[in-house]
Amino acid sequence: MLRVGVLVSGGGTNLQAILDAVKSGKITNAEVVYVMSNNADAYALKRAEKAGVEAECMSPKQFPDRAAFNTAMTRRLIEKKLDLIVLAGFLVTIPPEMIQAFRGRIINIHPSLIPSFCGKGYYGLKVHEKALERGVKVTGATVHVVDEDLDHGPILLQKAVEVLPGDTPEILQRRVMEQAEWILLPAAIDGIANGRFGQN
Ligand code: GRF
Repeated sequence: MLRVGVLVSGGGTNLQAILDAVKSGKITNAEVVYVMSNNADAYALKRAEKAGVEAECMSPKQFPDRAAFNTAMTRRLIEKKLDLIVLAGFLVTIPPEMIQAFRGRIINIHPSLIPSFCGKGYYGLKVHEKALERGVKVTGATVHVVDEDLDHGPILLQKAVEVLPGDTPEILQRRVMEQAEWILLPAAIDGIANGRFGQN
């Protein structure tokens, strides 16, 4: 049984998609055992609590400096004996010590078809603003393994989503979440839990 930890910062709709997929059996051989947010007000924490999953807030603001936070966060995740860490809208930079401790076992959902619209400054709504600015007709989402470079590790899954006339960043973000993110992340977790990516 794969022990999964989910790191969040916001509304938690990707976390909810994972929790629902475990409940419905779309994800097998895995359980979400821990949720961490850097934002005490993140609705994602409420979603975890409602699902009976251990959840806590751990923020850089609680520490004298970023190095102390990075060490404390990494230590906590090791303590939870996690097999897989899922970044679901987690807006904190992942430190090298955490990547080393969980080499190949941290995945991230990014709301574009990497290598488009990714890297420094590309997160959340900004990604969709840039896609609309560029005038792409197709965007989507990507699940990739996290390494030391931003949005750079091996790509596990991608799904294309149409850009429609009149789309605003908000409308496009919602369509990418509904038609791609909420499908890809559970599929990636189920694939890892059942050895379909050859990394068990
Ligand atoms: C979404 O914008 C998603 O594209 C990105 O971070 C945000 C997470 O949203 N990965 P939620 O907290 O899962 O609702």
